[in-house]
Amino acid sequence: MLNNIKFISADEAVKVVKSGDHIHLSSVASAPKVLIDALMRRGDAGELKDVRIHHLHTEGGAPYTDAKYEGIFFHQAFFVGGNVRKSVQAGYADYIPIFLSETQKLYRSGVLPCNVAMIQVSPPDKHGFVSLGTSVDATLAAIECAEHVIAVVNKNVPRAWGDAMIPTSMIDYFVECDGLLEPAHFTAPDEIESAIGKNCAELIEDGACLQMGIGAIPNAVLAQLGNHKNLGIHTEMFADGVLPLVEKGIINGANKVIDKGKMVSTFLMGSQTCYDFIDDNPMVRMMDVAYTNDPFIIAKNPRVTAINSALQVDITGQVCADSLGTKFFSGVGGQVDFIYGASLSERGKAIIAMPSVTNKGISKIAPVLTSGAGVVTTRNHIHWFVTEYGAVNLYGKSLQERAKLIISIAHPEHREELDKAAFERFGPHYHFVG
Ligand code: COA
Repeated sequence: MLNNIKFISADEAVKVVKSGDHIHLSSVASAPKVLIDALMRRGDAGELKDVRIHHLHTEGGAPYTDAKYEGIFFHQAFFVGGNVRKSVQAGYADYIPIFLSETQKLYRSGVLPCNVAMIQVSPPDKHGFVSLGTSVDATLAAIECAEHVIAVVNKNVPRAWGDAMIPTSMIDYFVECDGLLEPAHFTAPDEIESAIGKNCAELIEDGACLQMGIGAIPNAVLAQLGNHKNLGIHTEMFADGVLPLVEKGIINGANKVIDKGKMVSTFLMGSQTCYDFIDDNPMVRMMDVAYTNDPFIIAKNPRVTAINSALQVDITGQVCADSLGTKFFSGVGGQVDFIYGASLSERGKAIIAMPSVTNKGISKIAPVLTSGAGVVTTRNHIHWFVTEYGAVNLYGKSLQERAKLIISIAHPEHREELDKAAFERFGPHYHFVG
């Protein structure tokens, strides 16, 4: 017993799951491993069939996507993370294309049922509140809508403030387990990523409110912001890269209009240091994704600068960020929410930044997207486009002007062939575009 809470074992708790149920798991570092393992034991015992599992990206294992659970568990991801990528590509798991801002709406509107929400929380405080820590995102909506809520109470879950704080009365079953949260692993930016970081940093004004997407680029950008002033954070996720800038007072939220002086996010993906940073930190508000990712809320702050990455961009500015041809690699996530929000913000800048070539030397800028590739950010939404060779603003530019600008920052070895393709596509006038 802790603060009048009665703990039961994970095996007992997952008995509430029935065949045909939809389960939501809290995200990223907060995936409730002990409950997942107990659920797999019920699967192994042949007690369940056709159970659907939903979540954003999670760190750690995703055993329910294993081929041996065919007909028992079926994962329908809201974002294809590294641990489910192979299974999605092989057809043992699936993906629901959905803007991150609307993942919560799937539950709240009843489009997706949530029978059981499985979450991790910090131990209850003297007021009977626990914190969802690193995963508020669609998890709060799942808790509100679920028939049953099972929470792992874990002293390693940071006591994050904001919407993350919920009363214990929202939870039906408590399981105690103090496992460390899964850390995310990052490598130091290489030469190309650093050049991209520098080109992005030149676009970031003092007083900007930043959102950084997922992938290798965000840390490379943050590493270049040591001489900036009065930066703010309103994002869907952040990682360790922001911490030195907070320590130096460069990130202080002073120029924000909403959540002045606070950093706002909906999930976190970082090292233990990052999780410790949000623990009982009044500067950080971990909020519902309906708030963090609403483009019209994002746009309330001035100079919102959103930096997201891409897998492929065509010469008209169509951005593919979720698939390599027909093979799903990730998802739309919050890219469009923030690209659009930044473009609506006063002096905002929406940036797509990527290396010009892959690690195998293939041009990521292509005359047309690979067959089957999905458009995440449309050619109507794209504004700034950055590679290691520079930054170009495509907003208000014609198709032929865009092609010239995009090709001007392609890898030099690929510029000629891209130019030839543009000429073939657009015709004789292309030669005269300035
Ligand atoms: N053709 C062939 N292969 C390509 C390719 C292309 N055009 N572009 C990338 N690849 C390969 C890379 O070589 C790499 O392969 P590897 O794993 O064998 O090394 C892999 O695809 C991943 O590419 P990389 O550039 O390392 O990706 P990243 O980790 O920097 O992530 C995105 C980039 C686009 C996938 C990521 O930003 C994303 O998921 N975005 C969508 C969601 C989003 O933006 N959310 C916003 C806020 S979180």
